[in-house]
Amino acid sequence: MKSAAVIGASTGLGLYIATALVAEGWQVMGAGRRLLPQGSEAFDYVQADLAEDTSVDRLSQILRAAAPELVVYCAVAYGSGELSPPSFAEMDAMFRVNALAPYRLIYDYLTTGSDEKFRSIVVVNSDSIYHASLQTGVYAASKAALRVLTSTLAHTCKTKNAAVATLLLGPFGR
Ligand SMILES: NC(=O)c1ccc[n+]([C@@H]2O[C@H](COP(=O)([O-])OP(=O)(O)OC[C@H]3O[C@@H](n4cnc5c(N)ncnc54)[C@H](OP(=O)(O)O)[C@@H]3O)[C@@H](O)[C@H]2O)c1
Repeated sequence: MKSAAVIGASTGLGLYIATALVAEGWQVMGAGRRLLPQGSEAFDYVQADLAEDTSVDRLSQILRAAAPELVVYCAVAYGSGELSPPSFAEMDAMFRVNALAPYRLIYDYLTTGSDEKFRSIVVVNSDSIYHASLQTGVYAASKAALRVLTSTLAHTCKTKNAAVATLLLGPFGR
């Protein structure tokens, strides 16, 4: 059975993808911040706050042990939108969840896992990087950082049996 990990699977696009993969016969591990998300019963769910170093380390270990053929990174911190610009704490969390955690998780996964099976990584990004406003500037900047970091991961893939792709989406369902 093919196996996948969907990071950010507790709601939204990630939950949709995880559920669709299960329906297609994949074995799925999903991760998200909340404890028991509705709809996650169909797959193995791991709770992890990706704004915290220790949770990223733990999830990285779990990911490497599970060694899925497909990893989809959907987790996103949009920020509360209460302050423009947001507080440093909120900006820090956005950059961690949107750019630094996926970079670390995918880099660790690519460089320490086995190259026997071909591995695909899909990083979900946003076209907001091309039209940032004062309200969306920090979110867009974190996504732009993710885009650059994903390119460097693509270089890492050249010496691996793996590929990394960016899915650059416009608005949906919000
Ligand atoms: N929605 C749109 O219109 C749109 C447009 C363009 C691109 N995109 C991109 O599509 C992707 C999915 O977006 P979405 O709107 O479906 O997202 P969403 O519904 O807000 O779901 C975000 C996911 O990320 C998780 N997450 C947030 N903070 C986290 C943290 N600190 N630690 C761990 N997990 C955390 C959430 O977990 P909890 O809920 O459990 O906290 C949830 O599973 C994102 O990359 C987004 O940038 C979305």
